[in-house]
Amino acid sequence: MHIRVESLTHIYARGTPAERVALRGITLEIGPGKRVGISGPTGSGKSTLVQHIAGLLTPTSGQVLLDGVPAHARTPEARARRHQVGLAFQFPEAQMFELTVSREVAFGPRHLGLNADEIAGRVRWALEMVGLDPDSFAEREPFALSGGEMRRVALAGILALKPRVLILDEPTAGLDPRGRADILARLRAWQAETGATLILVSHHLDEMAGMVDRVVLLANGQVVADGPTRSVLGDGYRLRAAGLSPPPGVALLEALRAAGWPVRTDVLDIEDVVSEIARWFFNHKDTKTRSIINHSF
Ligand SMILES: Nc1ncnc2c1ncn2[C@@H]1O[C@H](COP(=O)(O)OP(=O)(O)O)[C@@H](O)[C@H]1O
Ligand SMILES: [Mg+2]
Repeated sequence: MHIRVESLTHIYARGTPAERVALRGITLEIGPGKRVGISGPTGSGKSTLVQHIAGLLTPTSGQVLLDGVPAHARTPEARARRHQVGLAFQFPEAQMFELTVSREVAFGPRHLGLNADEIAGRVRWALEMVGLDPDSFAEREPFALSGGEMRRVALAGILALKPRVLILDEPTAGLDPRGRADILARLRAWQAETGATLILVSHHLDEMAGMVDRVVLLANGQVVADGPTRSVLGDGYRLRAAGLSPPPGVALLEALRAAGWPVRTDVLDIEDVVSEIARWFFNHKDTKTRSIINHSF
């Protein structure tokens, strides 16, 4: 599915004292099968933007086109496209209400009018995809699960819809680091298997780095950067200006640069950070460098 966001502006509670401009003329395009990150500080408009892409909000001005059709329109063509966009809200488990895990995951597919065998197959597949063994989880009560398990059930419910576009709004918020890494690896595998478009909203820049090829940075309802992951996340100065902390590796290399080590800073993977330091360390044997090294340890 081709996504085009055109001069999109969204104002909440327009004309009231609570009026809030959330998006100010956003334009961007996301081709089929792309993996794109959307980041920015709290309140920058990330959730509002992705709700527009899912066709859940009506623009104040501008529009979102899904394969050329306005996403929010009340037409059968628009509805068919919206059905192909799966949006996992922040804390999706807050919207669970079924009595068993399998019913919860089956909720969406049932509303697509699929037959019982197809639904059962999708439920098993989706639970396996998020790392929950269907045999031990299917009949359990969602509310008796741990926070991480509930999050997985909620994500399985969206994967079971087999969306062509999957939007994850802060999918790991509130989870421990190990659970976060595991869930992201599984979603990454799901994307590779299905070739769907993946839109990941997060302000954890280090975890975004391995997931997406492009990052769109929002600040105050506007796009302040849009480019390859490495160039957007490797620019600590711009990230700080937008109100975000750079990934730890970038921050470390920047600190070394500030101390006089001419290392590059657009390095995101921790092993590459180590190689960059090692490369510089062993290639520079002049006395000035030696003295910096001696003073650094
Ligand atoms: N339902 C709402 N009603 C009024 N204002 C809202 C609503 N949702 C979000 N906002 C405001 O819109 C702006 C953008 O919010 P949001 O899209 O949630 O940003 P983010 O997801 O980046 O934190 C913020 O100023 C927020 O307070
Ligand atoms: Mg948000």
